Amino acid sequence: MKIIEVDNYEQMSLEAAELIANRLNEHNEFVLGLATGGTPEGAYHLLIEWNKQRKLSFKHVTTFNLDEYIGLDREHESSYYYFMMNKLFNHIDINKDKIHIPNGLAMNLAEECARYEEAIASAGGIDLQVLGIGQNGHIAFNEPGTSFDSKTHVIELTPSTREVNARFFNDPKEVPTKAITMGIESIMSSGELLLLVSGKEKADAMKRLIDGNISEDFPASALKQHPSFTVIADREALSKVK
Ligand code: F6R
Repeated sequence: MKIIEVDNYEQMSLEAAELIANRLNEHNEFVLGLATGGTPEGAYHLLIEWNKQRKLSFKHVTTFNLDEYIGLDREHESSYYYFMMNKLFNHIDINKDKIHIPNGLAMNLAEECARYEEAIASAGGIDLQVLGIGQNGHIAFNEPGTSFDSKTHVIELTPSTREVNARFFNDPKEVPTKAITMGIESIMSSGELLLLVSGKEKADAMKRLIDGNISEDFPASALKQHPSFTVIADREALSKVK
């Protein structure tokens, strides 16, 4: 695990965007795993800017998102599809056929999970996976207790995750109770992992990640076993680490 400490959210976003841009510029074909949520937004904003300035292209990039709520229409403003289109994909030169986000409205969810895993495999696997962390240590929507052997699956969201994510909904009652998420094994199969963390709300999670044991009770701890795992975290997020 390599930890890069930065001063604040803006610096985290810049470091992250630079790492992603370097990888995209180094390869002719690239498979990029993406996260939603407040944490990566700043990095996505910079990637859009650099794409507009022609410093960076996404024409050769295939993407896979980590997760999607079950039961939300793609046009629902809180769906992860909507988030990704508005915060990144609509503003860059990516081929829209190369974007993959789990379909939370699939009639057969088990089939959808299997299809998603197959799509990742047939793209040759994910080269770089961008991640955020939940206050309870979840990565993607793998809540505490999820098996480290898990592939893409349906998960019941914990009350605490639904509460934290209510800020992205008009009414807290609208937060879905289930989601499709890439599993921990799916994430660990990526060539490289990049975890972004900002803010004091994440300080307890960072302390447990860095100082604690590897355990299924704390899903992010699995990442420490990955040979190419980088954390970019700001001072507030690292404030409780020894
Ligand atoms: C989002 C995702 C989640 C978030 C995590 C942190 O696709 O997989 O694991 O990364 O909940 O969310 P924010 O960044 O909003 O604090």
